[in-house]
Amino acid sequence: MERLLVVLKVSSLCCLLLGYGRIMVEAAPEVSLITSLRGFNDTFPSKHYSGYVTINGNPAPPKNLFYYFVVSERNPSMDPIVLWLNGGPGCSSFDGFVYEHGPFNFEAGKPTGSLPKLHLNPYSWSKVSNIIYLDSPAGVGFSYSKNTTNYVTGDFQTAIDTHNFLLEWFNIYPEFVSNPFYIAGESYAGIYVPTLAAQVAKGIKDGVNPIINFKGYMIGNAATDYKYDGNSLVPFAHGMALISDDIYEEAVTACKGNYYDSPNNNCNIVLNKIDQEVSGLNRYDILEPCYHRPTTKEDINENKNTNTSTIPLSFKQLGVTERPLAVRKRIYGRAWPFRAPVRAGIIPMWPELMKQAGRGVLCVDDTIATAWLNDDAVRKAIHVNQEVGAWNLCSAALTYYSEAGSMIPYHKNLTAQGYRALIYSGDHDMCVPYTGSQAWTRSLGYKIVDKWRPWMSNQQVAGYTQGYDTGLTFLTIKGAGHTVPEYKPRESLDFYSRWLEGKQI
Ligand SMILES: *[C@@H]1O[C@H](CO)[C@@H](O)[C@H](O)[C@H]1NC(C)=O
Ligand SMILES: *[C@@H]1O[C@H](CO)[C@@H](O)[C@H](O)[C@H]1NC(C)=O
Ligand SMILES: *[C@@H]1O[C@H](CO)[C@@H](O)[C@H](O)[C@H]1NC(C)=O
Ligand SMILES: *[C@@H]1O[C@H](CO)[C@@H](O)[C@H](O)[C@H]1NC(C)=O
Repeated sequence: MERLLVVLKVSSLCCLLLGYGRIMVEAAPEVSLITSLRGFNDTFPSKHYSGYVTINGNPAPPKNLFYYFVVSERNPSMDPIVLWLNGGPGCSSFDGFVYEHGPFNFEAGKPTGSLPKLHLNPYSWSKVSNIIYLDSPAGVGFSYSKNTTNYVTGDFQTAIDTHNFLLEWFNIYPEFVSNPFYIAGESYAGIYVPTLAAQVAKGIKDGVNPIINFKGYMIGNAATDYKYDGNSLVPFAHGMALISDDIYEEAVTACKGNYYDSPNNNCNIVLNKIDQEVSGLNRYDILEPCYHRPTTKEDINENKNTNTSTIPLSFKQLGVTERPLAVRKRIYGRAWPFRAPVRAGIIPMWPELMKQAGRGVLCVDDTIATAWLNDDAVRKAIHVNQEVGAWNLCSAALTYYSEAGSMIPYHKNLTAQGYRALIYSGDHDMCVPYTGSQAWTRSLGYKIVDKWRPWMSNQQVAGYTQGYDTGLTFLTIKGAGHTVPEYKPRESLDFYSRWLEGKQI
């Protein structure tokens, strides 16, 4: 019966496309089409659209939410449609577009800070999906409101706004409303994604039009639960040989498993010790150099090619990316439990944290994105409104309240409603370590239907996975940092496309 319905739906869709192809195509607003991009010389592999969707403010005036939409390079009418959200809170989704899985690889301009050259990214997620990059909430990236009272917001308002954005977006692009729809994001989007998914699911139940064909969601190195995330760093640091057995045992004894909310002074002392041990590392990928280290990228590469070390090659190559261009040495991301934990209440914005002489968040390398997205010709080409100020990777404009608490009840509710979930972790990220994500997914108590096993990409072990009977999958990506596709683009496109297609990863 179900299969029959699917067949009917597919064939009627085909008819529609054949019969009304022109009309369908024209539903996408031609004014939003991007026809050229500074730094890019080639032909576009698919259509790109960008612009604003205006939603009602709360109370008023309106909020203008900016999106960049990349049409699938394979089969736009059948491929899924994915909304991508970066975290922060307050960071622009151009992070994903420029540095992670967008259609282009950006080659740094010379001298530093000049305009980059754009090359096609062979591992773009647009190879297998239609993908919307959204700057959210208003006040982030190119999204804005004329009344800055709208910049006081939080988890619940953001989810409501993004749901309204989606409804309006599908009205503008009705030809995509029947495509399978997924929500994806990383880091603080571990909060954005489930809270939005709950709104979308509720909208569908309530018959809100247009009816979104929502199927599931995926989150990477995702902030989820204060306790699980807060407890994840100590075992991670121990397992990665960043702290000694002695320090680890001291921590276990003093803190009694409670690192997220240190119960006593002895625990504080040992946590501070651990903090010191790891403070020189690049917390977003412990294998990558940090800015303040004397070693340069070139030194590291050179060391990989010498035979002086007895470390096996596979270990030396952890963290190596197939990207032709270097990954960033540092980015923004919430770190547990020491630097910038997510707790109920106002979350300081990154620029604010940096001002507070915050150790560890000072070195930020977003030169390429900043140069490109602040160029007048680029901004004109992608339809950024003239009244919008400078683009920053992470906004200083928001007063953002963390209010939704643990995401675990959300995941339980969404999986119980039949929505699929992929919880993935770059296993060398120290910001939201895999140890926390593995522990909370296991804590749900779901029956294991695909026992812990390696998964393969390019005939190599790319990480490990465990599947649960509710359609929830936990997956690690070996040697990847906080922003997984930035480090492991090929492997990422592999797990992404297999998961979207419902195949075994
Ligand atoms: C663009 O193409 C021209 C002609 O093929 C070439 O000379 C030029 O270097 C290219 N520019 C970039 C930015 O790739
Ligand atoms: C901004 O919106 C608030 C709430 O609606 C209103 O009280 C205030 O007057 C508005 N300010 C401006 C400058 O429009
Ligand atoms: C490493 O050893 C291999 C085989 O022993 C040799 O071919 C290669 O030239 C050596 N590389 C360096 C950088 O010494
Ligand atoms: C999920 O949450 C909604 C809203 O709170 C509730 O109405 C619904 O019954 C829940 N569904 C499940 C399966 O728990």
